[in-house]
Amino acid sequence: MSQSWSASRRALLGGIAALPALGLSRPLFGAAAAEVAASADAKAALNVMEFEALARAALADKPAHFGYIATGADDDRTVAINHDAFAHYEIRSRRFVDVSHVDMSVQVFGTRWPTPVYLSAVSSQRAFHPEGEAATARAAASRSAQLMLSNVASTAQADVIKARGAPIWQQLYATNDWKVTEALVKRAEQLGCPAIALTVDNMPGRNNETLLRAMKADTRVCTTCHANNSHDPLHKAPAYAGLDVSRVTELSPTDMSWAFLDKLRRLVKVKLIVKGIVTGEDAALACEHGVDGIVVSNHGGRDEETLRATIDCLPEVVAAVKGRVPVFIDGGVRRGTDVFKALALGATGVGIGRPQVWGLAAFGQAGVESVLDIYARELKQIMRQAGTPDIRAIDASRVVRKAYA
Ligand SMILES: Cc1cc2nc3c(=O)[nH]c(=O)nc-3n(C[C@H](O)[C@H](O)[C@H](O)COP(=O)(O)O)c2cc1C
Repeated sequence: MSQSWSASRRALLGGIAALPALGLSRPLFGAAAAEVAASADAKAALNVMEFEALARAALADKPAHFGYIATGADDDRTVAINHDAFAHYEIRSRRFVDVSHVDMSVQVFGTRWPTPVYLSAVSSQRAFHPEGEAATARAAASRSAQLMLSNVASTAQADVIKARGAPIWQQLYATNDWKVTEALVKRAEQLGCPAIALTVDNMPGRNNETLLRAMKADTRVCTTCHANNSHDPLHKAPAYAGLDVSRVTELSPTDMSWAFLDKLRRLVKVKLIVKGIVTGEDAALACEHGVDGIVVSNHGGRDEETLRATIDCLPEVVAAVKGRVPVFIDGGVRRGTDVFKALALGATGVGIGRPQVWGLAAFGQAGVESVLDIYARELKQIMRQAGTPDIRAIDASRVVRKAYA
C-alpha cells in the first residue's frame, strides 16, 4: 500500500467520522458508507450512491473539491430531478422467457461494449484522487468500458490513452478562438480518438452556489493548481499545452450557432457527437447538420436549472432522430433499472458522471471498478427479472410512464 494511499485511507475514515456534521443529503447511505469505509473495501458497497458519502469523507479536507463534484446550478434541483424522474417510469416485466443467459453487450460505432454504461467526461480528476484520470482509465480498461475524456482533464490525453489501452472519446469545449478548437481536434485525431463529443450546454457564467459555498469553507491556498487561486482550466489543463490560448475568453463561445457546427463538421474526420441536446427540435437539426451521435444531457444539472430531467427529454429526442444516429443519455443514472429504462426509451448508451468520481475519490481505480460492477450487476438482474435476455429485447413496450407523473 503506497504512502499516499494509506494517507487517503486515514482521511477517508476520519472524514466518515465527521459525516453527521457535514449534513448528508442521504443519511441512510451515509450510515452504510461508514460500514464500507470501515471495511476499506470498495466491493462492500451495496449501490453506487453509497460512494457519494465516501467521496465526501475522503475529500473532507478539500471541501471545494467535493463541492465541485456535488454542485448543480442555483438550488441544485435539476441535479435531484435528473435522478428522481426515473421514478416516472415503471418497468413491465414479462414471464416465461429463458433468461439463463443474459447478454448486456451493445454495438457502438463498430465497437462492442460489454454493457451500455460508459464513463462520461468529468474534468480535473486529480482534484479527487492523486491518480486522477489514469486510475479511471485503468478501471475502464479492466471492465472494457468506453471512456469519454474531458477537454479539461488534469492528466495528459496520451497518458490516459496509454492507461486505457484502447481508443477513448474526446470531449471538446469549442473556445471562441477557432485556431485553438482546430488544434484540439487535430491533436485528438492524431492520438487515435475515434469520436469527438462537442459539449453544447455549457454557456459561460453558470451559477454554482454549492461550489461557491464550499469554496468559502475551504481555507487552503490553492495556487498549486489554480492560477490566482481561482478555477482556470485553460492554464492548467494538459489539453492546451503548447497552444496559444491568449485570445480565449470563453470555453464555450456565446455565439456558437448551427453555422459553427457546420464548420466543425467539415473539420472533424472522426465521429462527431453533440453532448447537451434536450429537445426534439435540436436533435432533428443536429442530424440535418451531419452529426454522428447525440447525447441527451444537461451536464448533470450543473449548468442550468431547467427542472427538466434528461430521462424526460429522451423520448422526444429519440422520436426526432428517427434512428438516424445513436442517442446516448446521462444525468442522474444511479441504478441498473435507470439504465434499463433509458434503453427502453431508445438510448443506445448511458453515461455516468458523478458516480465514477465518487468511486475514484473514495478508492481510486478500485472504486471506479466497483461502480461499474454495480451497474452491470444491477442491469443484469433487472434484465433477468423483466424477461429481456439481450439489449434488443429492451424495447418501448418494457416501460410505461406513470399515469400521475
Ligand atoms: C465534477 C464534474 C465535472 C464535469 N466535467 C465535464 C466536462 O469537462 N465536460 C463535459 O462535457 N461534461 C462534464 N461534466 C458532465 C458529465 O459529463 C455528465 O454530463 C454529468 O455528470 C451526468 O450527470 P451525473 O453526474 O448525474 O451522472 C462534469 C460533471 C461533473 C460532476
